Amino acid sequence: MVSGWVHRRRDHGGVIFIDLRDVSGILQLVFDPENQDLFSTAEKIRSEFVISVTGILRERPQGTINDQMKTGEVELLVEKGEVLNISKTPPFHHDEATNEDIRLKYRYLDLRREDMSNNIKVRHEVTKSLRDYLNKASYFEIETPILTKATPEGARDYLVPSRTQQGNFFALPQSPQLFKQLLMMSGFDRYYQIARCFRDEDLRADRQPEFTQLDVEMSFVDQEDVKSQMESMVKELFKSVLNIDFENQFSQITHAEAMERFGSDSPHTGIDMELIEVSDLMKEVEFKVFSGPANDDDSRVACLVLNDSSDMSRKQIDDYTDFVSNYGAKGLAYIRVNDIGKGIDGLQSPILKFLNDSVINQLIERLSLGNGDTVFFGADKKDIVNASLGALRVKMAEDFNLIKDGWFPLWVTDFPMFHWDEREKRWSAEHHPFTSPINSDPEELKKNPKDALSKGYDMVLNGHEIGGGSIRIHSETMQQAVFSILGIGEEEASEKFGFFLEALKYGCPPHGGIAFGIDRIVMLITGSSSIRDVIAFPKTQTASCLLTDAPSHAGKDQLNELGISVKKKN
Ligand code: AMO
Ligand code: AMP
Repeated sequence: MVSGWVHRRRDHGGVIFIDLRDVSGILQLVFDPENQDLFSTAEKIRSEFVISVTGILRERPQGTINDQMKTGEVELLVEKGEVLNISKTPPFHHDEATNEDIRLKYRYLDLRREDMSNNIKVRHEVTKSLRDYLNKASYFEIETPILTKATPEGARDYLVPSRTQQGNFFALPQSPQLFKQLLMMSGFDRYYQIARCFRDEDLRADRQPEFTQLDVEMSFVDQEDVKSQMESMVKELFKSVLNIDFENQFSQITHAEAMERFGSDSPHTGIDMELIEVSDLMKEVEFKVFSGPANDDDSRVACLVLNDSSDMSRKQIDDYTDFVSNYGAKGLAYIRVNDIGKGIDGLQSPILKFLNDSVINQLIERLSLGNGDTVFFGADKKDIVNASLGALRVKMAEDFNLIKDGWFPLWVTDFPMFHWDEREKRWSAEHHPFTSPINSDPEELKKNPKDALSKGYDMVLNGHEIGGGSIRIHSETMQQAVFSILGIGEEEASEKFGFFLEALKYGCPPHGGIAFGIDRIVMLITGSSSIRDVIAFPKTQTASCLLTDAPSHAGKDQLNELGISVKKKN
């Protein structure tokens, strides 16, 4: 007996064919008119009816074999059948491209589509493989609370009001960070959890307000231990889900080098184009746009060379100039190489007149310029040049088909401990405040937070940060020092993290860990362009659920019980 949904019904004058679908695929059913009762039932069947049938599985006649289908060589001649449920005409058909809002509103129907169903199945394979690996390696799977206290990962918290203690709120965890560290202190030397995390932040194609981490922590380890274990876990994941072997060790690059060469802390290393430093050549030039940044330690002048771009239009250059302005760049100077045989005369650019011959010749040499090349310049504060040229590098690689096929895993290490938050005028943690510095002297750290590096590491895959972690601080003095650099005074530290600081006093083992973004990994493995396509019931860009209409109003009684009154929006 087979049961499932009517995917498609075709009436071939006399014979009715039904493609029957279940989660494993499609099977063609044949209804012969000789079986009159059954045939008249089949005539009434419509798309998405749920039916159950029995019959004879037979080879399809020559010429009717469908090699696009897994079951394309066979069909079931139906002998008995039953309609288990009828269906309204669905608001969209499987093959139709339809607006995402409608797909989200009728998500249960959307998930019947083959590619969506496949994404969810791959997601299952991914979590299964991760669990299998960690279980075999003697990790304990332990759950941590969802109703908890704020955890500092840098986003806004989702708050839940308490009824029993009116005016007080739980925060949903931005990650299980503090709890997993407490578990190390409890002696569970290897922990993992497939953990739901909640962050009220601006959403992008690879961000959801509610997402899933594979959260891992271990005791008595250093960075190399964590990295090598997680690397073999990821290798096994790709082997079991995609049958791909990552033969070599993952490459590794420091944060400083990643920023310098790729303008990004999560670089796609399957693109050969890199940022080339030319600050040293521009110190004396007449062009202030270049000489200013070239002589400032916090700034840089760098360029990207796009080969074989002689047919690039002026409009495309203008579009790229607009593109980099989104990252704060004030312009995008360029040089086109028409005929390198003619030396400087073979170049074309609005800025040549500002550069002397010696500088131009050195540029030609350093950039190894050839016919058809276009050089793009960024000159500004390092942050702006890195963000704008880093993004332009990827954009041009997409536009000109320069991204190599395959997988490019990478560790990024030696992150700065802190970055200066210009808006808030204070230091802020690059990872989170529990990350250990490489320097182990708290007083030294306080003297020079700017240059301090951390024992943090990120795993990057094809330009996406898929995981991030660190060796943690396990001394209370160091933890206090980091809080004080972050401007978290003793009182605030004790109010927010008192329980944690107290725990550090009772024999905390050295420990470290990492968390992977499962949604992002599945997104990459399935080649999905949106994180929503790998989550069964995701939120929209404005963090709402179109299926259930959440968030929604709470009733007066409920609010009263919670001691909450809602202000009218102005
Ligand atoms: P971090 O904040 O880097 O580290 O998060 C770990 C990984 O989670 C994924 N991720 C997200 N995925 C989807 N939507 C989001 N909004 C989102 N935010 C993060 C990323 C990221 O690499 N507690 C630390 C980990 C640790 O130190 O062990 C943490 O949460 O893939
Ligand atoms: P301007 O003299 O402002 O017309 O600029 C001359 C060229 O330099 C134009 O192509 C601008 O796009 C470019 N440009 C201006 N500011 C910058 C900058 N900060 N970085 C790179 N190129 C710039």
